[in-house]
Amino acid sequence: MAMQAMGRSILLILPVLLNIATPVRMDETKIVETNNDDGLMLWDFTATPAPDLSEWYEESDVVREPGMSKAVLVIQKSRLFQRAVFFTMLNPQPNGAGFAGYRTNKKTLNLEGYNSLQMRVRGQGENDHYKICLHHMGMNNEPNPTYEQFFKVPLKQFVNVTLPLDLFKPYYRGREMNISEVGPLNKSQITSFGFQIFGGVYSPGKQSGTSSLEIDWVKAV
Ligand SMILES: *[C@@H]1O[C@H](CO)[C@@H](O)[C@H](O)[C@H]1NC(C)=O
Ligand SMILES: *[C@@H]1O[C@H](CO)[C@@H](O)[C@H](O)[C@H]1NC(C)=O
Ligand SMILES: *[C@@H]1O[C@H](CO)[C@@H](O)[C@H](O)[C@H]1NC(C)=O
Repeated sequence: MAMQAMGRSILLILPVLLNIATPVRMDETKIVETNNDDGLMLWDFTATPAPDLSEWYEESDVVREPGMSKAVLVIQKSRLFQRAVFFTMLNPQPNGAGFAGYRTNKKTLNLEGYNSLQMRVRGQGENDHYKICLHHMGMNNEPNPTYEQFFKVPLKQFVNVTLPLDLFKPYYRGREMNISEVGPLNKSQITSFGFQIFGGVYSPGKQSGTSSLEIDWVKAV
């Protein structure tokens, strides 16, 4: 009996001895309790003071001749919570060409040793297909490839979206490239990160109209 009790108490103090992180508690109505031990925080839009969004800029088809789409990234601060909102209006061409996005290239991410990007987000509105667009090694603009991964969000519900870094593939203007020619994403030197919504010129499903994606944080895990 005594041995059993001792075993139990060792089990109880083990997490303290090993400094095992307790899970982060999540509540949709409150500020997320971030836990930097649990992955590497890349952008925490719940942080005080609020992150400086002037480091982000729009990249939408509006900068091109027939472009008609628009994106905005803003901080929403209420008395209960704070987060970023990525608002978009997609007005694609008849064939689905068109996109609206927001990106930053102000910091270089070294994600060596991490498996995935993880984001806590909620989608609302007409569209639910988004993508994350990365660039590496300072090759942040055309004609260099963007490394992209698509994801779908359930509407009106906060979820963690997990995007394995190995599944980012190279694209040029929305068309997939041959990875054996341009090489895989260099995880140790990601120099641009962006949120994007797209009309779907190269996909069977098309989307258009207005949407919002609320974003609490983006981490590497
Ligand atoms: C979301 O991510 C956080 C931190 O990474 C984690 O603690 C939480 O359990 C996750 N929630 C879900 C529903 O997976
Ligand atoms: C990709 O490029 C490699 C090397 O140039 C070539 O051998 C291969 O056939 C290409 N694959 C496709 C699908 O084009
Ligand atoms: C990836 O980036 C690192 C610098 O962070 C560099 O040393 C390495 O050569 C790059 N890898 C490739 C395949 O270019």
